[in-house]
Amino acid sequence: MNEQDSLDELITCRVKEGKKIVEPSTIVIFGASGDLTARKLIPALYHLFSAEQLPAPFRIVGFARREKNDAEWRAELKTALDQFSRTKPVNEKVWEEFSANVYYCQGDFSDSKAYEKLEKLLSSFGNDSLRRNLLFYLATSPSQFAEVVEELHGAGLLRLDAPAGSWQRIVVEKPFGHDLPSAKQLNTDLTRFAHERQVFRIDHYLGKETVQNILMFRFSNSIFEQLWNRQTIDHVQITVSERLGVGGRGGYYEEAGAIRDMVQNHLLQVLSLIAMEPPVSLDAEAVRDEKVKVLKSIRALRPEDVSKQIVRGQYFAGMLDGQLRPGYRQEAKVKTDSNVETYVALKLFLDNWRWSGVPFYLRTGKYLPLSASEVRIEFRKAPYVLFAAKSGTTLDANALTLRLQPNEGISLRFNGKVPGTSLQLRPVKMHFSYDTEFGAYTPEAYERLLLEAMAGDATLFIRRDEVETAWGIVDSIRSGWEGKSLSNREFYSAGTWGPVAAEDLLAQSGHRWRDPQPIQ
Ligand code: BG6
Repeated sequence: MNEQDSLDELITCRVKEGKKIVEPSTIVIFGASGDLTARKLIPALYHLFSAEQLPAPFRIVGFARREKNDAEWRAELKTALDQFSRTKPVNEKVWEEFSANVYYCQGDFSDSKAYEKLEKLLSSFGNDSLRRNLLFYLATSPSQFAEVVEELHGAGLLRLDAPAGSWQRIVVEKPFGHDLPSAKQLNTDLTRFAHERQVFRIDHYLGKETVQNILMFRFSNSIFEQLWNRQTIDHVQITVSERLGVGGRGGYYEEAGAIRDMVQNHLLQVLSLIAMEPPVSLDAEAVRDEKVKVLKSIRALRPEDVSKQIVRGQYFAGMLDGQLRPGYRQEAKVKTDSNVETYVALKLFLDNWRWSGVPFYLRTGKYLPLSASEVRIEFRKAPYVLFAAKSGTTLDANALTLRLQPNEGISLRFNGKVPGTSLQLRPVKMHFSYDTEFGAYTPEAYERLLLEAMAGDATLFIRRDEVETAWGIVDSIRSGWEGKSLSNREFYSAGTWGPVAAEDLLAQSGHRWRDPQPIQ
């Protein structure tokens, strides 16, 4: 190795070892017959087992109303795994070993006897830790959270004062309520029988590698962090676009709309990570303190601001991939005159020292041309002197794009000279691709999140004040929409980048949306 090579050696900085320390424990899934269990939770646990990340011993218990035995449930899960596993084919030997730890407990959520049965099953596992270290995964409707938690407490399975060396935690899925009062109520219900530190609220975006990398990128590189403020940044665009329509989820969507389904959680989470101050440490509370501060600094929206700063949209029938897609109002379980939004664009301001005056544009929508999530940091334009003045154009602004999915990567865009005798400039790109650099390692978000919850690390989960602050923002937007029908400028054809009103929103400030590109 010559001197230069050794200088360029890539040194991996180990912040935490790859393998989490997880004590022997049991995961009890409430709502075991549901879609989430079959599509996400069991495939994630199977992959963790196959990567030797699950503790030894461990058990998984499915709790649901339907009558079936262990063998039947295992067979059902295997069929689902064959379909949904991220690695195919499923390794039969690994599955056999894994599924020997999977049990089913039939019972009604409101029946105390069922919890006694669950307690007996846990006690029968022989190892004390499997009875005392318990992760309760509530993959049920939020309306059932309160009674499940109360019954668990009644059966002695969930304790506020767990004896040293044992733990019980609750993992809850979104939607966490449907507005601020309901979220507060859920929080009150959960924390009657569990401390806040025992409650793990999931937002699966936080389990994505690239979303986690936002923190590493910002706080392990000095060059970018220097630029991360109002002096250098003109505005920020966060896009989470989806090629899928609402499909079979019309009933749910009529209640949720894009603002509750996507903005309240995923988009505001990405915004928090992009805009937060450096935390004082990597502890869960230090990181979450800073994220909450971002949400609290979002300038309050009065009804008159909502009409100026927030645009909703709804798709009508249009072509996507050469196929005619139905309009939202034609989807099953959707009212034919529904005003529910399948698209939202927001212009938000953070009233804090770092970001004062910098617009943050967020948008998300269904049936857009491409499924992609990215954050674009657009820097201020170069002054209109020298090259720009000479050519009579404004040079393209520099931009840094964090592509969160798919084609995960980071690109820096700047202007370069076109080779040749004439003097021409055009934007060029420096690109880092995860796949090229690290190979295609894409664990599912749920794998990471389940492991973190078992290990008791709450950094990637949403804290009570965080979820409540996010609902406060969404509620103020929804109250600005109340009683107002969608205007013509708020409809968009399926297969396009959204309504004209969203273009207008940026045009007011001399900006325009930069759409994610198919291949970076
Ligand atoms: C879910 C929403 O939380 O996130 C869905 O309910 C959405 O409507 C999904 O499609 C998007 O997640 P991902 O990981 O596919 O970007």
